[in-house]
Amino acid sequence: MTKSQMNVAILISGRGSNMLALAKAIADPDYPAQVVGVISDQTDAKGLTLAAELNIPTIAIARSNFSSKAEHEAAIQKQLEMWKAEIVCLAGYMRIFSADFIENWPARFINIHPSLLPKFKGLDTHQRVLNAGDPEHGTTVHYVTAGMDEGPVIAQARVTVEADDTVETLTNRVLVEEHKLYPMALRKLIDAFLAKQ
Ligand code: GRF
Repeated sequence: MTKSQMNVAILISGRGSNMLALAKAIADPDYPAQVVGVISDQTDAKGLTLAAELNIPTIAIARSNFSSKAEHEAAIQKQLEMWKAEIVCLAGYMRIFSADFIENWPARFINIHPSLLPKFKGLDTHQRVLNAGDPEHGTTVHYVTAGMDEGPVIAQARVTVEADDTVETLTNRVLVEEHKLYPMALRKLIDAFLAKQ
């Protein structure tokens, strides 16, 4: 039988608005995926509650429960395998994975970052864009590789920086674009996988 859907797991650390955007898009019967579960490294992540409200399986896997990064990552990997995840989406997940973990997911591990990569890797991107006086800002969906925010770009969305923008107005405008871009970019990836089988 030809496979028509892929199993997607989403990793979060907080608010979970991108997770929600992905889950809502994927809930469309025409979207070639299902969300098999949401993992958070923070037990109190708001996104866990949002996912549970959509009847998506959730689990908190806190770093503090493990004596090493490798053991924490092994627990995450085990959970992903139990859910039979085929693609892993980071959505505001605030830890860096080891090269060993990343190798488990060749071309199946993606992230959304709030800047036009390769510009502004790392944190506080909106403030740094304002400080730099850039006329343009945006967001990037990219493959996760061992270098932080360095993997190949899958898709980007741009916003114009206005003269009166603050971190808050810019954050909100970029988020609106993220919520459209991430489901679109994931779909592009899945369509390419399904076309190859
Ligand atoms: C987003 O801006 C995303 O690009 C970045 O972290 C933020 C997460 O927001 N990686 P949310 O938790 O999805 O609302």
